[in-house]
Formats: sequence, C-alpha cells, structure tokens
Amino acid sequence: MAAAGADGLSLVNTIHGLAFDTATRCPKLALGVGGYSGPALRPIALACVYACAQAVALPIVGMGGVTSGDDVLDFLAAGASAVALGTILFSDPLAPSRIRAELDSARTPTAVVSGQEIHGLARKSDSRHVLSAE
Ligand SMILES: Cc1cc2nc3c(=O)[nH]c(=O)nc-3n(C[C@H](O)[C@H](O)[C@H](O)COP(=O)(O)O)c2cc1C
Repeated sequence: MAAAGADGLSLVNTIHGLAFDTATRCPKLALGVGGYSGPALRPIALACVYACAQAVALPIVGMGGVTSGDDVLDFLAAGASAVALGTILFSDPLAPSRIRAELDSARTPTAVVSGQEIHGLARKSDSRHVLSAE
C-alpha cells in the first residue's frame, strides 16, 4: 500500500446492515441495506486495525463504535495512531471533550506511562496486560 502511494489507512467504514419494518417485512431504508455503525461495529473495527497494523507500517486512523476513552485506548493498543469519532456525535455532541477527559484519567497497563507507549501494545506481547486500579 505504501508502494502504491498511501500515506496511511483509515479503518473502518460502516458495514452493510438490513432492518425490516415489522408490519410490512419490507426494508426500513429506501435503498434496502444501509451503513451499520456504532458500538456493535467496534470489535470488527479493532480486529481490522489489529490485522492491518501487523501487515503495514503506515499510520492507521482507527474508528468504529468509539464512545469512550477506554475505547480509544483499545484502538491505540491494536495499532492505531489516531482515533476518529462518528456515530457517537449524534447522541453526544460533546463526546470529543468528554473522551479527552476520560483519557486523562483512564486505566492504563501498569507499564504504560504515555500514549506513545500504548501504541501497538496488543502485538508487542502475547501475555495478558495487567491493569492498574487507577
Ligand atoms: C451519517 C454518516 C455519514 C458517513 N459518511 C461517510 C462518508 O461520507 N465517507 C466515508 O468514508 N465514511 C462515512 N461514514 C463512516 C464513518 O466515517 C465511520 O467510518 C463509521 O461510521 C464507523 O464509525 P462510528 O461507529 O464511530 O460511526 C459515515 C458514517 C455516518 C454514521
């Protein structure tokens, strides 16, 4: 990908979802399927970031169901260099500042003292990470 000129990766977009109206059993959306986003997408997004971070050296912007500082730390640990917010902004427009505050007081692995150190942590060790109480 870098050889093709990519400066980085943005992972992931929505995945196709389908919902039916219970009375008609017709798709609720005019086009049938639509983009499925939000918290249910997060494990899928984390798996994509985790896999791609091991395959490429490019910086990755991780997104998909991020709602909290803890979620951001998960994406960083999976290998993302930055994290984006999407669907959460509809229900919580102040999520960016809230999540920044949560990151300041987030539980991090005891060995981690900075955001840079948590980057890619999940692939640096096969053992489970011990979390501090604070
Ligand atoms: C209303 C809405 C519009 C979106 N528009 C775009 C778009 O124009 N281009 C794009 O690549 N992704 C678009 N996305 C996908 C988001 O950038 C993001 O990848 C996805 O929603 C997963 O993150 P989230 O669960 O935090 O929303 C859109 C998502 C939503 C909910």
